[in-house]
Amino acid sequence: MMQSSDDDTDQTYGYFDDQNYEYVITTPYTPTPWINYLGSNEFYGIISNTAGGYCFDRDPKFRRLTRYRYNSVPLDSGGRYFYIRDENDFWSATGRPATTQLDQYSCRHGMGYSRFNASKNGIATQVTSFIPLDTKAEIHSLVVTNHTQSTKSIDVFSFIEWCLWNAEDDGANFQRNLSTAEVEIEGSTLYHKTEYRERRNHYGFYSVNRQLDGYDTNRESFLGPYRGFDRPEVVEKGQANNSFARGWSPIASHHLKLELAPGESQSLEFVLGYIEVSVDHKWHSKNVINKQPAKDMLTRFDSHEKVMDELGKLNRYWRTLLCKFSVETPDDKFNRAINIWNQYQNMVTFNLSRSASFYESGIGRGIGFRDSNQDTIGFVHMVPEKVRARILDLSSTQKFDGSAYHQYQPLTKKGNANIGGNFNDDPMWLVLSTTNYIKETGDFSILQEMVIYDGQEQATHDHFDHLLRAFMHVINNLGPHGLPLIGRADWNDCLNLNCFSDDPNESFQTTQVGASDVAESVMIAGQFVLYGQEFVDLCQQVGKIELANRSMKHIEKMRKTIEQHAWDGEWYLRAYDSRGKKIGSHKNSEGKIFIESQGFCAMAGIGLNDGKVEQALRSVDKHLATDFGIMLNQPAYSQYDKYLGEISSYPPGYKENAGIFCHNNPWIIIAETMLGHGEKAFEYYRKITPTYLQNRQTLLKTEPYVYCQMIAGKDAANPGEGKNSWLTGTAAWSYYAATQYILGIRPVYQGLSIAPCVLPSWKLIRVQREFRGAQYSIEIHNPHGLSSGKITLSIDGQPVEGNVISSSSFNGQHTVIATMV
Ligand code: BGC
Ligand code: NOJ
Repeated sequence: MMQSSDDDTDQTYGYFDDQNYEYVITTPYTPTPWINYLGSNEFYGIISNTAGGYCFDRDPKFRRLTRYRYNSVPLDSGGRYFYIRDENDFWSATGRPATTQLDQYSCRHGMGYSRFNASKNGIATQVTSFIPLDTKAEIHSLVVTNHTQSTKSIDVFSFIEWCLWNAEDDGANFQRNLSTAEVEIEGSTLYHKTEYRERRNHYGFYSVNRQLDGYDTNRESFLGPYRGFDRPEVVEKGQANNSFARGWSPIASHHLKLELAPGESQSLEFVLGYIEVSVDHKWHSKNVINKQPAKDMLTRFDSHEKVMDELGKLNRYWRTLLCKFSVETPDDKFNRAINIWNQYQNMVTFNLSRSASFYESGIGRGIGFRDSNQDTIGFVHMVPEKVRARILDLSSTQKFDGSAYHQYQPLTKKGNANIGGNFNDDPMWLVLSTTNYIKETGDFSILQEMVIYDGQEQATHDHFDHLLRAFMHVINNLGPHGLPLIGRADWNDCLNLNCFSDDPNESFQTTQVGASDVAESVMIAGQFVLYGQEFVDLCQQVGKIELANRSMKHIEKMRKTIEQHAWDGEWYLRAYDSRGKKIGSHKNSEGKIFIESQGFCAMAGIGLNDGKVEQALRSVDKHLATDFGIMLNQPAYSQYDKYLGEISSYPPGYKENAGIFCHNNPWIIIAETMLGHGEKAFEYYRKITPTYLQNRQTLLKTEPYVYCQMIAGKDAANPGEGKNSWLTGTAAWSYYAATQYILGIRPVYQGLSIAPCVLPSWKLIRVQREFRGAQYSIEIHNPHGLSSGKITLSIDGQPVEGNVISSSSFNGQHTVIATMV
């Protein structure tokens, strides 16, 4: 295995291994737990570099199998643990929770799997954890090898803690939960059936493919009184108690004794599975669960060969997915980001929205309307069918007036009433996701799909009608200046201009709905012009010319309104508050300039011809750019102001209050490419992209292989420190900016357009792109060292007019040469 050459970087905690598509973590004690995601469909696991985390089926609140303690002491408590006991010493095969110093440790996070290597006193272990394709189970394959000269007797103890009930209740309702646990034990399988006697038709199990030398299912019995996961009593004494849980805290722990000759390896295949049964087939006999589906599943994983075969399938699945778009530029870090890690993160954010990470507890938030629509733009080229289904699911939570539930729950796919709607940027994101989907696939039939409104069968119209209502919702909700009403908040959830909260017990997100509905958003205005134009283009594509013309008038009007009421002299205003006061103006003492309206007005091309975009971007550079990325606003708010809301609740430099909110940096990157500023666009890109941040991993703290939501801004205690890794719109937007605007390989209705805006030093770029059933090998030549400009194009040696690869070649393999001239 070769390690990629990364000599310019700090490798205190880890490094990339590109050959294997892995990030290699070299210590259990990373600054924060560095996690990976397992699973690609419905059943998911979150796994840290010491195997902390949990798994769940679809909904991490209602179908979480195992327990995880967020924000725990010590950090990262609860996971799939393996204690290895050799004579009187014991350690953890995944580096923690036992504190024994290992002779060797590494965790390799790969595409949908994690592998842990450890060794101590000549005994080496390897745990490979993954969720096989189309399977509702985590597999943990453990190989133990004796590298010593003598025969060794080794004890292995597995450990997981169950939580297959309402995960929110789990942290609150102890008077009930400590009395409900029930288990069954049969052979080497420990079944968890809490609440199964009543309304659950699902259970969990943890099994191993070898006869047990003991087991435990009761946590206190395994750990011993007042002990932590670091030194369970059972492990210390070297013998399981065969405890049987009734109430209290149910766990599953297998005890296996291995005899290993010198040089010998033995493998154990652990399966942590989830089973759903029909009501009619719940029981085998009175109070005995129907175990047949679990047994059937177990036959798929009862040998090391079978398990490795499944891992091979998963690896091939990922290689195929990542081949759909790959690039070779002179910059390895760019290639690594585009070819591997950014796409990987795109899949994860698409699957999970903002529900379950180490910072999103999996109980509060479901699938976000705005978030999930945006996530599709980084994922649609990978699995377009899933994007199609997701768009239609989102569409079905739209309300009849075009607004939307802000979130829906993954199990029911019904809008979440607690959060409700009124986030007025929500509707237009549906236009982005849908038009981007059609441009990728050419599949206009999505527009004819019949979709309910607000989850109600009687209100069914085609999906196109949903887009029209989204568009009209903006028009029907304009404020005093003719700009869109912001509602509870626009993209910036913390700019709460219509509630005025003095009560610390209120949530800014949900409180005082309708206390005022006057404040207006320039960000939504820009968004409306941008995606409104997309809507008009779409109308033209489907022959709705009259509607296109009518809609265009609204857009023109909005454009004028912005020019008239939203230009502050050197940049775009951010909003008007409930009292008609400007937000994001040089006249304000704090919060003079905001990034969102610059990004959206610029991307919409408002003021492109009269220098306003140029000027706005210069202002961004001057006031908001830092070495670590572009801040959201400046100067930071130093005091709480109820007319601003949550934004002013954060100390300066954090989150929406002048943090570097990475999600909106790509908006500026795209805007820079629209002006042909390849170097500037690239400079902003590399500041936030993890593959460039290896030498900053200590400061960053979060995983240096994925984007995090926020990097602390210049006013913070530690500028450059990251927070909230993994589930962020930054992933999709960075990928979209890098592929469609920097590389400029952009799907359009007619085909694939090529309009790069790159570093002048990039003389040759090679791209492999699967598109509408064809495979394109694209070479972009830049002989004159340009950033952007005109392109001459040839396909399979034939010159082509313009810069679009069109439908005449939508199958087979093609060679495309684009030359920047
Ligand atoms: C965070 C936002 C987030 C919102 C919604 C706020 O506390 O600062 O980033 O979008 O909560 O949950
Ligand atoms: C995170 C939320 O998930 C997203 O919806 C929002 O746009 C940003 N925070 C900014 O507030």
